[in-house]
Amino acid sequence: MSITYNQEARSFHLTNGRVSYVIALAAGKYPLHVYWGRALRGITEDLVSTLTMYSNENFSLNETPLDRLPQECPTCGMADLREGMLGVRLGDGSTALALEYVGHDIADGKPDLCGLPASHGGNAQTLTLHLKDMYSGLCVDLFYTMFADSDVITRSMRVINATGGDVTLTRALSACVDFQTHDYTLLTLSGAWAREREMVKRPLVYGHQGVGSVHGASGHQASPAFALLEPNATEDIGGVYGFALCYSGSFMADVLVDQFGAARTQLGIQPYDFTWKLAAGERFDAPEAFLCFSAEGLGGMSRSMHAFVHNHVLRSKFANTNRPILINNWEATYFNFNEDKLVAMAKCAKQMGIDLFVLDDGWFGHRDLDNSSLGDWYDDMRKLPGGLAGLSQKIHALGMKFGLWVEPEMISPDSDLYRAHPDWCIHAGERMRVEARRQLVLDMSRADVRDYVVEAICAALERGNVDYVKWDMNRNITMWGSEQLPGERWGELAHRYIMGVYDVMGRITSRFPNVLFESCAGGGGRFDMGMMCYMPQAWCSDDTDAHERCKIQYATSVFFPCSCMGAHVSAVPNHQTGRKTPLKTRAAVAMAGTYGYELDVQKLSAEERAEIRELNKRVHKIQKLLLYGDFYRLRSPYEGNETAWMTVSANKKEALVTFVQALAKPNSIPMLLKLAGLDPKKNYRDEATGIVYGGDELMNYGYRIKEPKGEAVEAKHDFQSWQIHLVAVK
Ligand code: DGJ
Repeated sequence: MSITYNQEARSFHLTNGRVSYVIALAAGKYPLHVYWGRALRGITEDLVSTLTMYSNENFSLNETPLDRLPQECPTCGMADLREGMLGVRLGDGSTALALEYVGHDIADGKPDLCGLPASHGGNAQTLTLHLKDMYSGLCVDLFYTMFADSDVITRSMRVINATGGDVTLTRALSACVDFQTHDYTLLTLSGAWAREREMVKRPLVYGHQGVGSVHGASGHQASPAFALLEPNATEDIGGVYGFALCYSGSFMADVLVDQFGAARTQLGIQPYDFTWKLAAGERFDAPEAFLCFSAEGLGGMSRSMHAFVHNHVLRSKFANTNRPILINNWEATYFNFNEDKLVAMAKCAKQMGIDLFVLDDGWFGHRDLDNSSLGDWYDDMRKLPGGLAGLSQKIHALGMKFGLWVEPEMISPDSDLYRAHPDWCIHAGERMRVEARRQLVLDMSRADVRDYVVEAICAALERGNVDYVKWDMNRNITMWGSEQLPGERWGELAHRYIMGVYDVMGRITSRFPNVLFESCAGGGGRFDMGMMCYMPQAWCSDDTDAHERCKIQYATSVFFPCSCMGAHVSAVPNHQTGRKTPLKTRAAVAMAGTYGYELDVQKLSAEERAEIRELNKRVHKIQKLLLYGDFYRLRSPYEGNETAWMTVSANKKEALVTFVQALAKPNSIPMLLKLAGLDPKKNYRDEATGIVYGGDELMNYGYRIKEPKGEAVEAKHDFQSWQIHLVAVK
């Protein structure tokens, strides 16, 4: 890994031998984006001047149409007619910024982004480009970090108000990458509640295209991540550019194909409704963006991103460990439970080899429905006569761990907290307080609110002596306004809100380093890299149907590893779709995530309980492989009737293949599935049949998926699945 400055070519080259990123200073002043992609040895000065159409010396902002040039930090109000990365209103009212390079640093490590989650650890080097607006004195630092063990380059921007007066930021994005053509396919993960993160692919066309959110969270509707695929790039081959924002609030991810056919990609805080007052001397840090190029197709990009998440994003002590098999009472009881019911359920679960019992919503205040008590984090003694402490003691006495659901960012209008502090929710003066799920959102920009939340939640976690927390967030934010901010600064609130959430999450998670935290937002409504910095796993979706989950988890895997995806076996008929799928398939699909159950185990038949016992033994045995193996997508549910994926251990000695067939196919021959990621020189034994295959054979000829002996009739049903456990033999 190296970051070098070539004095003659006035260019910076970031490379690790697989990936290169090149920036040139036109006329020694203006940072142009020259290249990002497969590793290069360097770029000659001539190529840079061809790009600018001017020799380096003759380049000047007066004469050069910036509109034609790929830039590292385009700004608004100058001769670039496209939207820029940074927008300001300066003290004199002007929005024009002409940023010039004034210096750079190349240093080991990476800068701390004040209060923001960010990548960390390992052997890293950072290039900082110092830019300055020569008229106003506003300063901008652009950060580019490379890690020795990763193909991901991280970017961020810092704005420093050295103008001497107030400045208002109207746009402060994290990264802009200008591609010189637009012959790419854009891949986004778009969806809705219970349909989170569906893969959407479209060719780039002239104009704007992209995804975003304006409601205070990254959202169910789109992930703050996207990819551009080179023409002909597939799952296995071709160049793929992945972008992911390390941020959980309102965001923008946009590609503009301009009048010359060039594609400008931008990623960062949602500029709609955003303003930020920067007083003299203050600075603003934009969240970090992860840029991941792979020449090995979409699969290669995903594997690089997964490794980066494991090594540089997750911080929890559980980041690289096995996770407990859990059972959550939500779909089993909803709000209708008491201690006896819960303990009976836990006892039964323990007998099946389940490690952790999670008590979901409804244990506090007088919450018998979703219409009250959020904020009143004290035990409902009607349901739990011994309180959380008593229940936790009983669960622990069974030899199980105890987990608890909380929704710290919310307040119910029917709560003691609201009666005492009606001003603590986000609200816009005297306007109506729009409820969703009959709740309001706490104003996390306020220090007093944050302090209350930290103390109330910590007290509950201590009382319950908890081992696991599910941190939920069940509504979007509307009618932005805060009693502690003057109205003209309400444009800051969306960012202040999420910064407040990060502060609270940071304080609570660091107070409980031995607790496993899982984030959740009405299912997978805040599934992003920012959350992963605090909590190493997130509930993927409230849709627990195995067939639907194939699509959701398959698409989520484009950016996130299996270890981040909460996935449970639930009851049939499924509560969201009414669909009946075999237990085996529900388990096979849940094994592609942090495995657990979400049903009343007491209602299962003796055969089902026995099957679950065996499944749990299996998960305990191969969980490292399931969660941390290299992930290969083999068949896409977006393209046909089958979904298949596999994980391969780093030493390639073990692999687990999962194949799910949605609808049964009458009169069909056994399907041939080409595997990936194995060592072609190794032989692998199929643990179920004892048959030994060559790695080369399995990857080039394929594995024949056939009906297991004696199960021929069952195999004719819909939603069947197969798992193939391969172990290398001498
Ligand atoms: C939404 C979550 O996604 C569910 O799993 C459950 O915890 C409910 N909230 C509880 O209100």
